[in-house]
Amino acid sequence: MTDEREPVQPSGVWATAVGVARVRALESEREDALFRDPLAQAFAAAGGLWPSSSPLPDDETARRRRLAVSFSIVIRTKYLDDLLLRASASGVRQVVLLGAGMDSRAFRMDWPEGTRLFEVDTAAPLDFKASVLRQERAVARCERITVAVDLREDWPAALTAAGHDPATPTVWIAEGLLIYLPEDAVELLLARISTQSAPGSRMGLTLGSRGVIEGIGADAEPGSPASMWVSEMPDDPVGWLAGHGWQADSHTLHERAAAYGRPVSTPPQREKQPGGLISAVRR
Ligand SMILES: C[S@@+](CC[C@H](N)C(=O)[O-])C[C@H]1O[C@@H](n2cnc3c(N)ncnc32)[C@H](O)[C@@H]1O
Repeated sequence: MTDEREPVQPSGVWATAVGVARVRALESEREDALFRDPLAQAFAAAGGLWPSSSPLPDDETARRRRLAVSFSIVIRTKYLDDLLLRASASGVRQVVLLGAGMDSRAFRMDWPEGTRLFEVDTAAPLDFKASVLRQERAVARCERITVAVDLREDWPAALTAAGHDPATPTVWIAEGLLIYLPEDAVELLLARISTQSAPGSRMGLTLGSRGVIEGIGADAEPGSPASMWVSEMPDDPVGWLAGHGWQADSHTLHERAAAYGRPVSTPPQREKQPGGLISAVRR
């Protein structure tokens, strides 16, 4: 039986996931795209964000802010795609996307045989996503398991009940997530990830740069993603992760963008750009 219900419309923090899909759909249309996400347009359309109707604002500050956020989404997506490829190549076969939103990596990336990919988010975005995936007749390229749970609750129990095995290595992705969680929730999330991570596990995180909330979030339009930002990265993210048992490297968006042949056209106000890209291996 097919379900023809209209998807629930995006609201609150998960609406940001549909905005991210819109940016990925725009990137996918470029000849020199850093990735192609064939489902992104369908997610954006189902959420009323496609055709990409909202032109760039006239106000220069708002315009720069929008471009900076879109830029950060494109660069971080490529960065984490590469991190996942390296994790697969190292033999990791469990993938957990925390705050998965409209991430379509289960459908758009090549996964080695035996890969199990868990998408963790709250029920509303996962239901919305399921309805778009049905409509698009999308077929995952690995075993895909969704876990509807709030990450402030006991998500490790829900993840294990869904089949995650903490005794074998996992690659964890928290992309565009931590900036929406208060600092104590970020700390607890990291502690929980760490206890669920066998040696050889890996992790990719995006963190809000120092100053980004004051610089971009403070005068963001009410209801916009930036207006919901609450936490920035610690002064020393590598040291912070070492304290949790991870060997981490941190990269800036601009350094990665240059490496990908996509340098920024406007000079960045370095500290005020969203971003902070972390890759880590469990010690
Ligand atoms: C900006 S979106 C990023 C989505 C996805 N990681 C990506 O980059 O495409 C943030 C996501 O985090 C999820 N999220 C935020 N707070 C959460 C919480 N407490 N529990 C579960 N998911 C949460 C939202 O529902 C949303 O899907």
